[in-house]
Amino acid sequence: AVVPPAAAQPPAPTTVAHRGASAYAPENTVAAFELANEQGADMFELDVQETKDHELVLMHDTTLARTTNVERLFPGLAPWRVGDLTLAQIRRLDAGSWFDAKYKGEPVPTLGETLRAMSASRLGLLLEIKAPGLYPGIETRVADELRRHPSWLGPGRLIVQSFDWNSMRTFRRVMPRVPIGLIGTPAIADLPGLARFADQINPPYNELTPEYVRRVHRHRMEVFTWTVDDPAMMRRVTSYRVDGIITNKPDLTP
Ligand code: G3P
Ligand code: CA
Repeated sequence: AVVPPAAAQPPAPTTVAHRGASAYAPENTVAAFELANEQGADMFELDVQETKDHELVLMHDTTLARTTNVERLFPGLAPWRVGDLTLAQIRRLDAGSWFDAKYKGEPVPTLGETLRAMSASRLGLLLEIKAPGLYPGIETRVADELRRHPSWLGPGRLIVQSFDWNSMRTFRRVMPRVPIGLIGTPAIADLPGLARFADQINPPYNELTPEYVRRVHRHRMEVFTWTVDDPAMMRRVTSYRVDGIITNKPDLTP
């Protein structure tokens, strides 16, 4: 077989552990981030939301019911929205048992605790601001927390992303030097305008084509795609020359 020259091989994409190594440990917990590090990920992804008293905590869903024992501890607080509980209340929750008894007592971390716990690792961070429309001003609060942990502000260590592109325009104004990712698949015609403030376009893998990746690259932005857990699909998107693969299984990336 003819082996193509090295330059023709697609570059190895960055491996991003989605909510940590969340196929093997409870999502958005320090346990999942530490496991991602052990499994050789390059970065970890997390979701930030705000408590009733405006503290930043990690949670994917806008309610606490799926991944904690909130229903049992606070039966009167249905539907258990993140923003309906104080940090003191959220600190009492168990975010590990729903996943596996061996993670019993794993807490819902604050963003600050996570930045502190993971700062000595070699991992980068893909920080998603989740549902910012529910939390007016969250961009400033995230920026303030990041400034308290300057080791994360070094070159290449941090990207901030959201499904809410207006929130990302705001974040760019608040922290102009931090790279910005837009989650979704914008129309190709919109790429030049988005490239004025964004550094990445992050589509789901099933909306990706090689041509789309080329177009994004032409506007000097990167492509990180999600959530790719199947090794054959990891190889396929690598052949499309994506820059990053966001996966629940960081042990499986090429
Ligand atoms: O990083 C992209 C991905 O996290 C977006 O989807 O719903 O898992 O936050 P979701
Ligand atoms: Ca996310």
